[in-house]
Amino acid sequence: MTALITLDDYERAARDVIAPPAWEYLNGGAADEHTLRRNRDAFAGVQLAPRVLNDVSRIETGVRLLGHDLAHPILLAPVAAHSLAHAEGEVETARGARTANAGLVLSSYTSRTVEDVAAAGVTPLWFQLYMQERNATEELVTRVVDRGCTAICVTVDTPTAGPRDRQTRSGFDFPPGLPYRTVQPGDNPCTWADIAWIRRAVKVPVILKGILHPDDAELAIVNGAAAIVVSNHGGRNLDTAPATIAALPRVVDQVAGRIPVLVDGGIRRGTDVLKALALGASAVLIGRPYIYGLAVAGAAGVTAVVDILRTELTQAMALCGVSSVGGLTRATIWREDHA
Ligand code: LAC
Repeated sequence: MTALITLDDYERAARDVIAPPAWEYLNGGAADEHTLRRNRDAFAGVQLAPRVLNDVSRIETGVRLLGHDLAHPILLAPVAAHSLAHAEGEVETARGARTANAGLVLSSYTSRTVEDVAAAGVTPLWFQLYMQERNATEELVTRVVDRGCTAICVTVDTPTAGPRDRQTRSGFDFPPGLPYRTVQPGDNPCTWADIAWIRRAVKVPVILKGILHPDDAELAIVNGAAAIVVSNHGGRNLDTAPATIAALPRVVDQVAGRIPVLVDGGIRRGTDVLKALALGASAVLIGRPYIYGLAVAGAAGVTAVVDILRTELTQAMALCGVSSVGGLTRATIWREDHA
């Protein structure tokens, strides 16, 4: 086996072990996959402005987020049905996340119960919600909060799924027995009124995931969101939506520090994490890469993927001359037009 040094190495290795329809589901995007590709290309297109001779003998990656002290700003995004990648599913992921000190956002489409996942001791554990009929939703969120989820992360960018052509061609279907998958995304499209309702229904912070427009960021704050995630659903819904790293700065400007702004989509390198933080993100989420790790090596693979990114982030911070996450600002981003 070739050495697994980068997240892309894990992707190549995972392709050999994940069944083809599941691979098309996990790896694919919407339509012609412009947004899927752009998420990565846009990160590559952001250039860095390193400073030299600062004291970078000690690099601190820690951040504080929604009441949690995190060792680093890398969280695991909600991804459906981890059983597609590993027999133990989300429990195995949670074990790997715990070792890597990474928080996990458990999907509504989890293949394991929140009780099983919480027992693996991952913190923070948040729950991703697809809005259902209100009584069922209230029952579900009450249950997950009782079991230790410290935030509810509502996906707001999926009134319908996008045209997942690769997935459709492959004949993919979800494995049977997902405990909370009572509706398809889009069966019960969520509106702002539902956000105001869910906020009243739960006592934990409500995070909105899937915001690209600054005006929606403003509405999120008005409706009581505790944080937002700038996301295009991993390029899986609206093709030709902008790359998340391109959308991030406008959202950050609009939010102006009132709530944390997180970002996901296309993060494969420590420099990508650094760029997101420098452009104003409080933390980042990775999705597909940790599933690759899970498929290739179970919990150890999840840990390895996070550790690689964290090590690369530490290197990138030192090479940029910045020793703490708080010290990362737009000054670390190269501007061609700089006077
Ligand atoms: C997806 C849904 C389940 O992206 O969020 O496949």
